[in-house]
Amino acid sequence: MCANETQIESLMQEERLFRPSRKDQMKAHVKSMKEYKAYYKESMEDPEGFWARRAEELITWNKKWRKVLRWDFNDPKIEWFIGGKLNVSYNCLDRHLENGRRNKAALIWQGEPEEDVKVYTYQMLHTEVCRFANVLKKLGVKKGDRVSIYLPMIPELPIAMLACARIGAPHSIVFAGFSASSLESRIQDCKAKVLITADAVLRSGRTIPLKPNADQALKNCPTVEKCVVVKRAGNEINMEEGRDLWWHELMADESIKDTCEPEIMDAEDMLFILYTSGSTGKPKGVIHTTGGYLTYAAHTTQWVFDLKDDDVYWCTADIGWITGHTYIVYGPLALGGTSLMFEGVPTWPAPDRFWKIVEKFKVNIFYTAPTVIRALMREGVEWTQKHDLSTLRILGSVGEPINPEAWMWYHENIGKGKLPIVDTWWQTETGGILIAPLPYATPLKPGSATLPLPGVDAAIVRSDGTPAKKNEGGYLVVKRPWPGMLRGVFGDPERFKKQYFDRFPGMYESGDGARRDEDGYFWIMGRLDDVINVSGHRLGTAEIESALVSHPSVAEAAVVGMPHPVKGQTIYAYVTLKAGLEESDDLRAELRNHVRKIIGPIASPEYIQFAVGLPKTRSGKIMRRILRKIVAGETEDFGDTSTLADPSVIEDLIKGNKELTGNK
Ligand code: WT7
Repeated sequence: MCANETQIESLMQEERLFRPSRKDQMKAHVKSMKEYKAYYKESMEDPEGFWARRAEELITWNKKWRKVLRWDFNDPKIEWFIGGKLNVSYNCLDRHLENGRRNKAALIWQGEPEEDVKVYTYQMLHTEVCRFANVLKKLGVKKGDRVSIYLPMIPELPIAMLACARIGAPHSIVFAGFSASSLESRIQDCKAKVLITADAVLRSGRTIPLKPNADQALKNCPTVEKCVVVKRAGNEINMEEGRDLWWHELMADESIKDTCEPEIMDAEDMLFILYTSGSTGKPKGVIHTTGGYLTYAAHTTQWVFDLKDDDVYWCTADIGWITGHTYIVYGPLALGGTSLMFEGVPTWPAPDRFWKIVEKFKVNIFYTAPTVIRALMREGVEWTQKHDLSTLRILGSVGEPINPEAWMWYHENIGKGKLPIVDTWWQTETGGILIAPLPYATPLKPGSATLPLPGVDAAIVRSDGTPAKKNEGGYLVVKRPWPGMLRGVFGDPERFKKQYFDRFPGMYESGDGARRDEDGYFWIMGRLDDVINVSGHRLGTAEIESALVSHPSVAEAAVVGMPHPVKGQTIYAYVTLKAGLEESDDLRAELRNHVRKIIGPIASPEYIQFAVGLPKTRSGKIMRRILRKIVAGETEDFGDTSTLADPSVIEDLIKGNKELTGNK
């Protein structure tokens, strides 16, 4: 298990229980445990009936489906709402123009500079999306063509996404913090026809050029015909004749119309690809489709966040991750909600930025990550007391297990001891939340994501696939499909099968470990595979290792997650150098920089330990278990080490670790 033992221990002792408050309960979408249980029962006994009803209640279909579900986890093949026709951008925009929401704020954008605020009503957003959809068409983008998007958190990002959805062109968003070479490999993998990017990213008061990364990436991306550039910062950039075009010039063109007929899509047509890390060196392109994904996004947004018409809802994630796709854009807009989008960071210009925004826009629902809570905890409660947070009614958490201390701080200082915290467990692959409390129904235990949502058949199994007992840790699996689940890995059906459906036949394997307590509550323990979670960002250790060994000085590298009080985990790399090379701090800095260049700043190792050798079995496999224990300071018992080729390396590694980190 990657979760460290003290963490599990503290979770084991957690006995506090918080019951839903009666205030707002009767107005909630799901009002009580009794209602939750009835829905859950129905969803297990008649899943097709349950999901057909939700799909009809929440989504406008151009043509109804012939069959709700066909699935086979062994093939694997999953199809929802077969034969159904719809358009996602129509559902997120057009239909709200006729149902009384035309002049309602769809998007409130707070830029990093305080005075940079933009509000788009549904009507305004519709016009922008239609215009950009027409721009894309003019650039030759057709239904089925992929469009890569590499943008900071500016309104053009959701506009571009919805424009792609409008014309049936799957988007592939690459987080703007990724490097040129990460962008390059993602564009190459999906063979995008167009790239949308910006001149720069504004971050913590600085202007960080972005376009040079795009230029670098596009040197090796022959499929990209045009590159659309948003002017965000106005910094000097290179515009390549014939390839690069300014967003504002394209949009100002008088021949571009304000309306664009939405392309009628099949329920199972691809909506987007989003790359995520796995246990191999190459990120995989997770495929989400149209009907099931949108139904699931709307359904979970409505039930888990109890989103209502007059709420201001704020999810602090970046749209470059799945959280932003589903819970900034598609879920809230499908419901006709008001979604707030913020360009900046929680601690700049001061650690009260988030609370200032809550007060400024009277935010009602606030969804963030444990790493943010822990970072703000450190700054002291006085920052939270400077602002009126009384409009808040629901708090959310996502990305990693929220430790009970952070939960209590969030509850007491932001929730003033009253607000429910929905700890939401899910993944890029799941499209939306699978395990979470319903805010006015589920009694809460700090640190537990509580219970599976209706329709989610989650379970814990042992390595042989048999069910784990109560409180026994095991593999978290899902035993039947839900509408938002991934449909494949782009261009790699083998990997889709191997990664998710091979180990436990007939079940979806999440890669996480968990246990279920006597009340059936889930306690997520973290990844069981070679994936680490740094500040809620998912990184494959193999990716970082291959970046390190691509440096001419490195012979071998092994990367593990080291427990970290704010980030959850931090990156720790063991590196052996090629013969005759000197260890030095300069080389350390160079290696860090190298990884930063190849993957991005989020992947740069905090610690690099130069080692003479790595603990390998006689067959040459690195025993990561040992490396993980060393960084966690658990050096008393390494378990069975009899297969190690050279057990003496362990002592050296422990010594090196102590020197580097001060681990006792
Ligand atoms: C991994 C998925 C889902 C959006 C953000 C991350 C971890 C996520 C929780 C939670 C414990 C969590 C898991 C999961 N994770 N939410 N509430 N409690 N762990 O998406 O990048 O695909 O990462 O994040 O380990 O497998 P992702």
